[in-house]
Amino acid sequence: MTKRFENKVVAITGAAGGMGLAFARHFAAEGAALILTDVDKAGLVETEAALTKEGARCSTHVVDLAVENEIHKFATEVASQHEGMDVLINNAGLAYGQVAFSFESLTQAQWLKLLSVNTVAPLLLAQALRAPLARAKGVVLNVSSMAANLPGTAYGVTKAALNAMTYGMASVFGADGIRVNAIAPGLMETPAARDNLPAETYQRIQSQQMLKVHGTADDIAALGVFLASDEARFITCEIISCDAGSRLRGWRG
Ligand SMILES: NC(=O)c1ccc[n+]([C@@H]2O[C@H](COP(=O)([O-])OP(=O)(O)OC[C@H]3O[C@@H](n4cnc5c(N)ncnc54)[C@H](O)[C@@H]3O)[C@@H](O)[C@H]2O)c1
Repeated sequence: MTKRFENKVVAITGAAGGMGLAFARHFAAEGAALILTDVDKAGLVETEAALTKEGARCSTHVVDLAVENEIHKFATEVASQHEGMDVLINNAGLAYGQVAFSFESLTQAQWLKLLSVNTVAPLLLAQALRAPLARAKGVVLNVSSMAANLPGTAYGVTKAALNAMTYGMASVFGADGIRVNAIAPGLMETPAARDNLPAETYQRIQSQQMLKVHGTADDIAALGVFLASDEARFITCEIISCDAGSRLRGWRG
């Protein structure tokens, strides 16, 4: 059977582990050449070692997406090496710690930092890579969250704004034939989710699902492969949930 991403270039942010690693594995299995980035150098080295052992082709780049210069430096380097970019997955995000706080306690500087990584960086990076994306009639996938539906925390607000950003990006980038969609995961079993959510919260969120199954990073990566493929060529400007039916009630108490 033909692999769907043979001779295609796929860039993934937040690739040091968790969902980013799952995206990398799924696209590598479909024949893609991978460009992997993260701010976490040690995690990226581990990812590269694991993927190379599995036979994947990848390059790695340490990039802090909160720093605009670093985004441009990375994009320039990538564009000099690849004429076209088929897929950009904006998976990196701040999901735990400060961003999980409610509204009352955050300063303006903290808000701006969180928004810059979760909401603005996906646009800046896609814009910086627009020429190679346009040449390949590429696809951008933003990783949002079900938390956008009830933004009772800074995290939810940044992801709700990312949904709006996705609509805007799809509208503007569509002129170049670039499709832009977002995936909104529910509770997915990644090391970061396991380590950072209290067991009680984890169980409460899971108990709200319509399906009593555990979500995994592979569920999200499989959806990403479909949305980035030609099978989804008529889909753009959508926020697609993958959350076992949690969309409307996932984070409610
Ligand atoms: N796991 C879940 O249940 C879940 C649910 C909904 C949405 N999400 C979203 O999925 C994505 C991946 O989540 P995950 O569970 O794999 O968590 P994760 O923390 O393992 O992944 C996020 C990655 O982003 C990187 N990152 C953070 N700040 C960065 C910066 N300034 N520059 C570059 N990289 C940076 C981190 O180093 C990390 O590798 C995130 O956007 C998260 O908000 C996760």
